[in-house]
Amino acid sequence: MLIWIICAAVFIGLLIRNPYFFQDVHFLITLFRVRLRVSRYRERNYSILDRFLDVVKTQPHKPFVLFKDETYSYQDADKLSNKVARALLDSGAVTEGDTAALLVGNEPVFLWLWLGLLKLGCPVAFLNYNMKSQSLLHCFHCSGAKALIAAEEYKDTVEEILPHVLEQSVRVFILADQCQTSGMESFRDKVNQASTEPLPSGVRSHFTLLSPAVYIYTSGTTGLPKAAVMTHLRIMSMTTGLALMGITSSDVIYTTLPLYHAAGFMGFTATIERGMTFVLRNKFSASNFWEDCRKFNVTVIQYIGEIMRYLCNTPKKDSDRCHKVRLAMGNGIRAEVWREFLNRFGNIQIKEFYGATEGNLAIHNYVCKIGAVGRVNFLHKKAFPYAVIKYDHAKDEPLRDSSGFCIEAAKGEPGLMVIQITQRAPFIGYARDLKQTEKKKLHDVFKKGDVYFNTGDMLCISKDNFIYFHDRIGDTFRWKGENVATNEVSDVINVADGIKEANVYGVHVPGHEGKAGMAAVLLKDGEKFDCIGVFKHLEKFLPAYARPRFIRIQNSLEITGTFKYMKVKLVEEGFDPNKITDPLYFLDEREGKYIPLTQEIFSSVITGKMKL
Ligand SMILES: *[C@@H]1O[C@H](CO)[C@@H](O)[C@H](O)[C@H]1NC(C)=O
Repeated sequence: MLIWIICAAVFIGLLIRNPYFFQDVHFLITLFRVRLRVSRYRERNYSILDRFLDVVKTQPHKPFVLFKDETYSYQDADKLSNKVARALLDSGAVTEGDTAALLVGNEPVFLWLWLGLLKLGCPVAFLNYNMKSQSLLHCFHCSGAKALIAAEEYKDTVEEILPHVLEQSVRVFILADQCQTSGMESFRDKVNQASTEPLPSGVRSHFTLLSPAVYIYTSGTTGLPKAAVMTHLRIMSMTTGLALMGITSSDVIYTTLPLYHAAGFMGFTATIERGMTFVLRNKFSASNFWEDCRKFNVTVIQYIGEIMRYLCNTPKKDSDRCHKVRLAMGNGIRAEVWREFLNRFGNIQIKEFYGATEGNLAIHNYVCKIGAVGRVNFLHKKAFPYAVIKYDHAKDEPLRDSSGFCIEAAKGEPGLMVIQITQRAPFIGYARDLKQTEKKKLHDVFKKGDVYFNTGDMLCISKDNFIYFHDRIGDTFRWKGENVATNEVSDVINVADGIKEANVYGVHVPGHEGKAGMAAVLLKDGEKFDCIGVFKHLEKFLPAYARPRFIRIQNSLEITGTFKYMKVKLVEEGFDPNKITDPLYFLDEREGKYIPLTQEIFSSVITGKMKL
């Protein structure tokens, strides 16, 4: 009797100390099962393609991909990807191991192309279709692709870089029935003529789980975009990682995120792994979002912070709670938006996670704590060590103690998130860029010889063990769900007419996720700021999300102290014409030029009247 009372008392004591005890244990059990699944896949050299082919066998007629009014079953997808693979094989453009690059939007053919190339044992580079000219060419080159396959709508974009691509004897295909441009070949006609017969597995006989499967572009936290290498094993572990959120085979998952990003793409691979249904939309639309969810019986949605905010900003409707969505998974939702979303759209579990495309670990907020990106779980952290360490902003490097080791930040204090690189949590790095790969590694963190992945993000662990996102350091910021590399933007501005030098940074705008781009600019002697010319130049060379919203003309760019420090001051000063005496300009997209940033414009921007 006494023993039971003691046990109960200890247990109640534990619960009082940790009210999330059951959820913590549940997470560990799920984690264990997921890891077990990955190690079984690993032993059997079982890839996402094997999984796909098995699901085709077990549930051929189950709806697999829903897009607009089109429904594709697992069997349809199998046949369509066979056709793609056969057309490519017959063209002689690629064989096993050769990379192909895709410049295709969010439409089913993107998926068939990927599956088809997978069947040929070819890695695929997912080009971001917002990219243009130099940036696009850079991305294409770092994949080392032998073929480029582009949707018809991006034909002009491809033509611009065509001479440089052809120099490398790359084959260029356009998803059209015919193509007159020399150097480009039509592809849709060839796919239509190809047979649906399965490919002999001999065409991919050298394949292992450690072969690269996909290259996904990320700016990391510095410099030009880099191609993060995703091996088959990594795809399997990231995909099964989504199972930690509690998705099951009967779920219908809805994504409006671009497939060229890891998050959207993982929604698709998770669909295959669990044998679910994937609802794809070419572009996020706030006004159609819930209508789509109702039409397709969606149960799980994928988000980034912006999506949730836009949904909350739509006019209230009686039908707001009329849907079957039970789970939302993604990242970047702010606490205030989170609360409002739940109030408006009902009891949906929102599960935030934190992880980089090229990173070696994701952390999960599995208890749905509002505002947090993750939760410290003692055993999980033992198996996958990570730490939030003190950071010296003036020197732009982690703070080290007298013996040269890093120092963990106190609870409640923001610091740099670093994740130990181990066999369990490997860091593969970037394609053809050893230097950038090395730059992401931090050595001798707590012990001589240990190596950690440097996330470049400032996080904060609270007293009750929740992890919060604080800020991003380094030379990038996020805007509209995309990473913007400041150096890349300033390189483009620097060669605009009349401009001597530019320094680019991100500024906070109330009511917006991420940071809006701003450039401090020094003009050439005797030159005026060319409002139209500069806009036209940026429009030509940069995707819309990377074009600076604000421009500040300075007489001299301060170069004292570290470059970084100078940015900190500019970021703090922001774009308020009341505080800044330098001329300020605002990007007016409708007018197609920069216009002087007046007091009125400033107030309509900060009150949200003017859309950015
Ligand atoms: C959604 O569910 C309803 C009721 O269960 C069903 O009648 C309808 O066919 C489903 N729609 C789709 C697209 O699966």
